[in-house]
Amino acid sequence: MKIAIGSDHGGFLLKSEIITLLQELGHEVGDHGTHSQDSVDYPDFAQLVCAEVMAGKSNRGILVCGTGIGMSMVANRNENIRAALCHEPFAARMSREHNDANVLCLGERVLGVGLALDIVRTWINSDFAGGRHLRRISMF
Ligand code: RB5
Repeated sequence: MKIAIGSDHGGFLLKSEIITLLQELGHEVGDHGTHSQDSVDYPDFAQLVCAEVMAGKSNRGILVCGTGIGMSMVANRNENIRAALCHEPFAARMSREHNDANVLCLGERVLGVGLALDIVRTWINSDFAGGRHLRRISMF
């Protein structure tokens, strides 16, 4: 799978860990920055990743900031982006099965690395269930 990833300074360290994991799992990762812990504006990076997904250049996107909140707010303003802010694996799985989330948002200042990587692993390996859920996501 091709996955676009981006963060601001508050998510930079966790982004690096996620890239390593995804590459180990055999995925192709496009890193859209930021590339240091210098202060930047999270909307810039959310839009870069969402543009990749909307254009079909990446199958899914992952966004990391301090809390994941700003990234999810920005991402969900885009048509055909369904971004899910997840703090544990159950919600991550459900966001795929029921909501067909195409962007995962995480908060580096909220999650430990081990939990965050579990969430990513679960989200990447979960599929949309379709059926009644397709009708529902077609309603917004
Ligand atoms: C940056 O300090 C912080 O506001 C940002 O990473 C994020 O948490 C915003 O939602």
